[in-house]
Amino acid sequence: MKSFLNVQDLGDLKQALAEAQEIKQDRFKYVELGRNKTALLVFFNNSLRTRLSTQKAALNLGMNVIVLDVNAGAWKLETERGVIMDGDKSEHLLEAIPVMASYCDVIGIRSFAGLTDREYDYAETVYNQFVKYSGKPIFAMETATVHPLQAFADLITIEEHKSTKRPKVVLTWAPHPKSLPQAVPNSFAEWMNAADVDFVITHPKGYELDPKFAGNTKVEYDQMKAFEGADFIYAKNWSCPGVTDPNQYGKILHDYHDMLDWTVSQRQMAVTNNGKFMHCLPVRRNMIVTDDVIEAPTSLVIPEAANREISATVVLKRILESL
Ligand code: CP
Repeated sequence: MKSFLNVQDLGDLKQALAEAQEIKQDRFKYVELGRNKTALLVFFNNSLRTRLSTQKAALNLGMNVIVLDVNAGAWKLETERGVIMDGDKSEHLLEAIPVMASYCDVIGIRSFAGLTDREYDYAETVYNQFVKYSGKPIFAMETATVHPLQAFADLITIEEHKSTKRPKVVLTWAPHPKSLPQAVPNSFAEWMNAADVDFVITHPKGYELDPKFAGNTKVEYDQMKAFEGADFIYAKNWSCPGVTDPNQYGKILHDYHDMLDWTVSQRQMAVTNNGKFMHCLPVRRNMIVTDDVIEAPTSLVIPEAANREISATVVLKRILESL
């Protein structure tokens, strides 16, 4: 595997899920695979889970790990070609990428959407520059439009906790004071559509996800209706994807004070099928979800985060096998 961005990059999902369980039984089974190989993890944005779980995954495989926080100690990087570099950015990504690549065997990238230029973000411009100029396998640690390591961990978690063969899974928008990217909901939708689940999305009008990820998924604008009989509730905020009006891209369409009835609470969970609550974390309590729902025995947020180590180990293993 030379690039990990979309669900198709992993090939057969059932096989990948079986591999995840194999690794969960013995995390160090493939510790020889990464001997004398180095993973470079490049962060343009903050992280807790991705930073720790991906490092742990690399260590499980016997790899060396280098972490670069671009905004904390490195030269500020220009990412767009053609600009006159007379500002605070001292180095261009087009030099930095091959230099970074010379020190490692595989590169993970975290580079969030800027949320101002839809075309730039949805072309995965930064990620694709790494693919083009590094000559090394690249994997996404949340890029402008996707977060596949999270979605894979989410799917592993659903498989582990489902009590019916084809569970009902609901992705629900929830309020947030800031404008957030669509990477998590995009990937969640893409992966759920590839999995054997009954998938429904609910959000206020205007937040329709890009069809590239949502496909033909049923959108139910009435959140209570969407929750009825659900086995899993996956909450997340996202800003306007700008599908019908690119000028609205990255915008918050409603004052969050007016949207607090979308906060996931016992009121909505009561109509589910004893539904399990999921969120990728970090989460703003009593904005996205109430304290009692996230603290309930039906909350999966901690096992879900723990599965990030497993999803990253499978992905790095596949990459190492292709070197
Ligand atoms: N879910 C997730 O990616 O968490 P971090 O942003 O802390 O890495």
